[in-house]
Amino acid sequence: MKDCVETKACMGRREFLVKAGLVAGSTVLTVSSLSAAVAFEDVTVPIAADGPLAKIGGSQIIDSTAGKLIVIRTEDAKFVAYSARCTHKRGVLGYDHATKQLACPSHGSKFSAADGSVAKGPAETALASYVAKGRPTSVTVVVP
Ligand code: FES
Repeated sequence: MKDCVETKACMGRREFLVKAGLVAGSTVLTVSSLSAAVAFEDVTVPIAADGPLAKIGGSQIIDSTAGKLIVIRTEDAKFVAYSARCTHKRGVLGYDHATKQLACPSHGSKFSAADGSVAKGPAETALASYVAKGRPTSVTVVVP
């Protein structure tokens, strides 16, 4: 065992605490830099000839960096996209083209597919909406 009194290789308590503090500080900076670097990414969904978005009134739930989204084809060349999570307690929404509403199976909230507003509670907050750019064979959801 080394005798720390006579060798410069051993750290004193103060030196150890300073170095440990520097390591911990740089670790915190690195972790916070990583979390700040996470960027949202647009999602492009192919429209298969027999897929759910091939027809007006069709919808599809997709995963994105913003969470689950629901893409709805409301017209021939028009798509809308909303968060697929109910604003009440995060149930996963489904789309009903007959009523043009998104419905939550958990507690019955409904949202307008026109703008994501609450049509029926208990949810009180509108859905987050996203720009959806349709093309003949795909739709791209812009996730800011
Ligand atoms: S989670 Fe949707 S209504 Fe409660």
